[in-house]
Amino acid sequence: MSEKIYIETYGCQMNFADSEVVGAILQEAGYGLVDSLEEADFVLINTCAIRDNAEQRVRHRVRELRAQQGRRRSLRIGVLGCMAERLQSRLMAEEDNVSFVCGPDAYRRLPSLLEQVRAGRQAAEVELSTTETYADIEPVRLASNGISAYISIMRGCQNYCSYCVVPYTRGRERSRDPQTIVDEARRLFDDGFREVTLLGQNVNSYDWHLAGDEGRVDFPELMDRVAAIDPRLRVRFATSHPKDLSDRLLQVMAARPNICRCIHLPVQSGSNRMLKLMNRKYTVEWYLDRVEAIRRYVPDCSITTDVIAGFSTETLEDHQATLDLFRRVRYDYAYMFKYSLREGTYAWKHLADDIADDEKTRRLNEIIALQGQIALENNRIEVGREYEVLVEGESHRSKERLFGRNSQNKVLVFDRGDAQPGTYRTVRVVDCTAATLLGELV
Ligand code: SAH
Ligand code: SF4
Ligand code: F3S
Repeated sequence: MSEKIYIETYGCQMNFADSEVVGAILQEAGYGLVDSLEEADFVLINTCAIRDNAEQRVRHRVRELRAQQGRRRSLRIGVLGCMAERLQSRLMAEEDNVSFVCGPDAYRRLPSLLEQVRAGRQAAEVELSTTETYADIEPVRLASNGISAYISIMRGCQNYCSYCVVPYTRGRERSRDPQTIVDEARRLFDDGFREVTLLGQNVNSYDWHLAGDEGRVDFPELMDRVAAIDPRLRVRFATSHPKDLSDRLLQVMAARPNICRCIHLPVQSGSNRMLKLMNRKYTVEWYLDRVEAIRRYVPDCSITTDVIAGFSTETLEDHQATLDLFRRVRYDYAYMFKYSLREGTYAWKHLADDIADDEKTRRLNEIIALQGQIALENNRIEVGREYEVLVEGESHRSKERLFGRNSQNKVLVFDRGDAQPGTYRTVRVVDCTAATLLGELV
């Protein structure tokens, strides 16, 4: 009987997409994928290194699993992903003592790695690649609702934002052959999927040179090709770096209603001094110009962001500038973080982590409170409007209710009536919270 693999995933959407590639590689090698730890011979933890608390969570999980290993000696634990790349064989030392480590560009070598582990050796594969995109691998859709799926369109990042570990854990930026992306999206559509999200750390710098003098495919062109598959296929994308958000992408969005009206545009700070220290390569003025361009070309587009509180030398004025920017843009959603110093980054080498932790927390909480208020006000404006919703499944709170999203990526919850998951329905908004719109089928 084949040995069983259980995969647990932490971190960003790209890690979730990678786990589906890992699943495909191991299935091809004859392993069985299981969705419970109890049946597993190998547990693979796909990890994130973006902030210290992300890593602490994984370390805690490894200790928990090793306690189980005390009862089941045959269980092998491996660490994949960004933490594997960052810490490498350090993860196989006494403290964590995992059986194997595999970095994000080495997943094709997992079968041989597991062979070594079965032979009783600890093993690590952490080489980064300048070309690997796993373009030819058809991911297994893990924990899928059969409606929406991720498609990885590029890997790596070389923007070197001064606080960020990703360029070190994921290597150089490289784009994937557009034909393989379009083919994957079409197969998903044919299998009944109705939403794909194209993924990269900075999708706006996607760039593929066609053979000979056939020209190139950039991100707007790629979006256009994927959106052309079928008007019933929703197309989303993440993440957009503000420095590279082009008018042409917005024009393609305007011309293709099935490209979803939602742009994630991480700002990080509202202070030009901070943005410079962060090496973000844009100013607040540039950012606001991009926001204005979005509103001009795609007026019904929602805008979401990421922000960091308490970066090196951040003053109260810098922090106020962030709050002011939030008031001006009025984001529909924000991911808000406390600055976490990451070993190996420019900031780690050259910039002091000099804001006390409780002060970081205080500033973060101020941003969270403001954003909560803005999100609620934004949602109140929605009451009375009607949206086309892609129905995804049962609401977590009640079997009598379904939930889905509108094009703007807002969640709507409504009485189930005769609606079916995987179909589009019109829903009228009748009430809201800061996080959810409550509606009824029209
Ligand atoms: N490529 C994306 C971001 C990926 S990481 C982009 O550039 O927009 C997701 C978010 O984590 C970042 O946008 C940033 O807000 C946050 N982040 C990254 N490094 C961090 C650090 N050292 N401390 C706190 N937050 C961080
Ligand atoms: Fe990190 Fe900046 Fe790259 Fe985003 S663009 S992954 S924040 S280095
Ligand atoms: Fe984390 Fe790596 Fe994604 S550090 S955010 S899993 S690219």
